[in-house]
Amino acid sequence: MSTRVIVNIGELITNDPTMGDGSVMGRCHDGAVALDSERVLWVGPSAQAPEADEMIDAEGAAVVPGFVDSHTHLVFAGERSDEFEARMAGERYDGGGIGRSVASTRAASTGELRRATSRRRTELLNNGVTTVEIKSGYELTTEGEVRLLDIANSFTDEVTFLGAHVVPEEYATNREDYVDLVAGAMLAACAPLARWADVFCDDGAFSVDESRRILLSARRAGLELRVHGNQLGDTGGVALAVELDAASVDHCTHVSDHDVELLASSRTVATLLPGAEFSTRSPYPSARRLLDAGATVALATDCNPGTSYVTSMALVIALAVREMGMTCDEALWAATRGGAIALRRDDVGVVRVGARADLVVLNAPRAAHLAYRPGGAVVGRTLCSGIERWLAVRENLE
Ligand code: NIG
Ligand code: FE
Repeated sequence: MSTRVIVNIGELITNDPTMGDGSVMGRCHDGAVALDSERVLWVGPSAQAPEADEMIDAEGAAVVPGFVDSHTHLVFAGERSDEFEARMAGERYDGGGIGRSVASTRAASTGELRRATSRRRTELLNNGVTTVEIKSGYELTTEGEVRLLDIANSFTDEVTFLGAHVVPEEYATNREDYVDLVAGAMLAACAPLARWADVFCDDGAFSVDESRRILLSARRAGLELRVHGNQLGDTGGVALAVELDAASVDHCTHVSDHDVELLASSRTVATLLPGAEFSTRSPYPSARRLLDAGATVALATDCNPGTSYVTSMALVIALAVREMGMTCDEALWAATRGGAIALRRDDVGVVRVGARADLVVLNAPRAAHLAYRPGGAVVGRTLCSGIERWLAVRENLE
């Protein structure tokens, strides 16, 4: 396996507190990193960098861990920009448009869905995302959810079964039957294709009791848990996620003081998705309140056709800094190490020996440029150890 060394890194963010300035960011000046195509081999001062097959001179640029996007809905067909336009003209989001994406996804061929997912995965990679979680949830039939999970598996190991996204139209008058299906036959068919199960526990989607039932069945089927909670109201998703020791509860747009305390005293990560508040013109949650209480916060894109057609983690970081009370360092940590913790991974979101060789070289001397230059071409080169696998998928598609 060939080796590379990146030298003359002006600011290297490792997220390893044993490195550099000893802060949680593990910030090193004039650093270097040696890696092979899978793992980080060495981290230290540029002056002591080891020999390697290839040398990359960063010329003083900043290098950060690859972004860990722990919440996406990448497998879908169609788009819903008309809903976005209507919201910008004053309409409220209530989850109602999900059914339209279900209809267009059901109607799409598997080839179309694979190509669309590949395009979005490429866009994320170009924006520095080296680890991505992908959910199902836009077919809501057993065969359909299996099809979406199968596609997701071509692009990532972090695959999530979201049969409980909403109750599909054909079950509108007998929702209990749909809950039975999700917790029964659909789960049985989907569990072998997923690591995670997720439920949209909110107004207009699934109640706390329905969500608990589905999540407990999923756990019995061997899946680990995550929850969409408290996006549309203070609806109990956070408390349920903490009760079930879910890895993450995502959105947290409306949280009570009690929810904040629960999160702070649990292992459950609060994953904030400011792209969704942006695209639904909702109030941004206060990350400051969660951080000050001691909760672990992650940031993710929530890339989906309805509430957040966002593939830029830099934009997410900028929104979190500008609108949610995070410092530039906290937002970068949440988009890298925080995302990794939300996926219960310790090999990503960090630059240390043995970690995956996932790095982003910025077109900037300091990592703060991610928030400071919103919309700018701040992400330069992405190095991703998993890249060969999905590039091969892409080649097969083209
Ligand atoms: O995370 N909240 C539920 N699911 C998505 C939105 C899906 C959609 O509107 O298509 C979300 O925001
Ligand atoms: Fe989501």
